[in-house]
Amino acid sequence: MMANLVFEGGMARIQHGFAQCHDAIIRRSLVLDALNLRSGERVLEQGCGGGFYTYETARFVGPQGRIAAIDISADQITAARERCREMSWVECQIANANELPYGDGEFDAVFGVQVLEYIQDFEKALREAQRVLRPGGRFLNLATNWTSLLWHSGHPERMRRVLEALATHAPYPDLPVILASALRRAGLQPLCQQGVPIINTSYNENRRSFWIARLTANFARGRGGVSDDEIDEWLAEFPALDAKGEFFFSTTTVLTEAIKVS
Ligand SMILES: C[S@@+](CC[C@H](N)C(=O)[O-])C[C@H]1O[C@@H](n2cnc3c(N)ncnc32)[C@H](O)[C@@H]1O
Repeated sequence: MMANLVFEGGMARIQHGFAQCHDAIIRRSLVLDALNLRSGERVLEQGCGGGFYTYETARFVGPQGRIAAIDISADQITAARERCREMSWVECQIANANELPYGDGEFDAVFGVQVLEYIQDFEKALREAQRVLRPGGRFLNLATNWTSLLWHSGHPERMRRVLEALATHAPYPDLPVILASALRRAGLQPLCQQGVPIINTSYNENRRSFWIARLTANFARGRGGVSDDEIDEWLAEFPALDAKGEFFFSTTTVLTEAIKVS
């Protein structure tokens, strides 16, 4: 059964922990390179979370530009506003990516990182992105193929059940697989999709796996027949493997670029 993951309170803190880790910094750098923002550009960020991308994109466009960052969660917008408090050209507001409070053609670029997969009607969010982009404007999305998570474990059956429970945390756990055709239906022309793999062979708070483990433990506990004890044992296995030099985790995230042709 589908359950909406809400990024407030503890989940927002887990998301901020991930956003500050080494693997997230590398990912952010790839997204920023692909966006290739110029001074003065107007940019909309869908589902800005704690504003880590918002802050960096604002430094590219500068005070002559404009960053509009939206998120459906009040906790996330409070954090994003705080992060960007000294940047008058950044506006962070609570809004739904499916009903953007902006006019047609207002933006040179629209981007979202790990957000569309959480939206039930994500095709509406694509149509909204297309509407607010100017002709020639660019669209960028980064999303994980959540079923690509691979962890070394001495308990493969427990691992399988935990990952099955986690897969229900998003309506579209493998969004990149269906994104290109959805972009075309929304009037955006896909340009390319490239994989951004992450491999962790150590387990600590500077690694993506550490934060995915926390998100998984929070979400999967009590779902799909996964008990509290099983989740605690599942979580305890990783530091034990790490201590023996046997920790392994890999996943693939996909960067998708598109353009509004006219
Ligand atoms: C995994 S977090 C990613 C946050 C940020 N993009 C980052 O990578 O640091 C997903 C975010 O999307 C937001 N979100 C989910 N559904 C949304 C919607 N319909 N409209 C706007 N934001 C939404 C959540 O509140 C959450 O902050």
